Amino acid sequence: MHHALQKLHEETLQKIVEVNDLEGVEVLELAVLGRKQGALTALLRQLGALAPEERKRAGQRANEVKQDIERALDERRTALRAQRMAGLEEAEWMDVTLPGTPFPRGAVHPVSVAIQEIATIFARIGFLRARHPEVDSDYYAFEALHMPPGHPARDEWETFFVASAADGDQNGKQRERIVLTPHTSNGQVREMEKGYLPIRMINIGKCYRRQIDVSHVPVFHQFEGLLVDRQVTVAHLKGTLEYFVRSYFGPDRTIRLRPYHFQFTEPSFEIDISCAVCGGSGVQGGARCRLCKSGWLELGGAGMVHPKVLQAGRIDPRTHAGFAFGWGVERVLMMRHGISDIRLLYCNDLRVGGAAV
Ligand code: PHE
Repeated sequence: MHHALQKLHEETLQKIVEVNDLEGVEVLELAVLGRKQGALTALLRQLGALAPEERKRAGQRANEVKQDIERALDERRTALRAQRMAGLEEAEWMDVTLPGTPFPRGAVHPVSVAIQEIATIFARIGFLRARHPEVDSDYYAFEALHMPPGHPARDEWETFFVASAADGDQNGKQRERIVLTPHTSNGQVREMEKGYLPIRMINIGKCYRRQIDVSHVPVFHQFEGLLVDRQVTVAHLKGTLEYFVRSYFGPDRTIRLRPYHFQFTEPSFEIDISCAVCGGSGVQGGARCRLCKSGWLELGGAGMVHPKVLQAGRIDPRTHAGFAFGWGVERVLMMRHGISDIRLLYCNDLRVGGAAV
């Protein structure tokens, strides 16, 4: 018995030294100490057959052997675990708490968002979005709008002209001249020419003017409303614009109509919106409001469609009337968000837009 224990002890310790993975340690432990098939367990079972004196000595010895093997197994296990960790550190260790590689994310441009929003607000009251050419003839941009060739009112629209075959024409035939539309009003007569009534159109498109400063860029957007029906009055115009202003800027804003002049509307107005800073009073903290002129800010032009324009669109001004307005998309967007330089919108900086606006 003593000899058998001795032999098992030595052999096992040797195997423990030789084993070089954690799984091997488990197998070895089972083979020696396992309850059913362990070699040491088998030896212990034989103790019962020994004489009492012999049994006591062998039992004690067997226990010592068992404890020594257990200790050796534990040590080997710890060493192998440390080895495995070290190997991982070198080969495949990674910090799963690190943030991933940032992925560039785009956003819809604030002007595109505004266009969508404006179209939706007008769709709710039955204005259908229309598209008309952004490169159009002088006729639709000016002449049909009651601004014949040479009319001084044209100067207000710092127009880009497109070179064309008609440029050499000495007969003053402006009709064929092509312009980059300086306003969306070219859509008025074009829409009337479609020949349906009543008209409730919202034409949103690009406009071009020779201008650049904090509030002007050469390419910008306007939204042009046109309503033609029987018995249309300034009250309809005011109600429609007030509805838009409250939807877009907030329910506590109001508008006022200030007399103005456009060739294609009569009467004509400039629409002002009550200032958000001073609440329309013109006074802020005992002083004149920084932002506005006496409580009001300019939004854009509007008016009742001029009879000559209705006629150009083959609509009888004795039976029908209309109103129109043409406002800048960038302008309303900047006013809503307090953006002071329009060029920020077109500087290609990805921080403009996204969550910011
Ligand atoms: N087209 C005018 C502009 O660009 C605005 C306007 C549109 C005025 C319709 C009256 C009616 O300034």
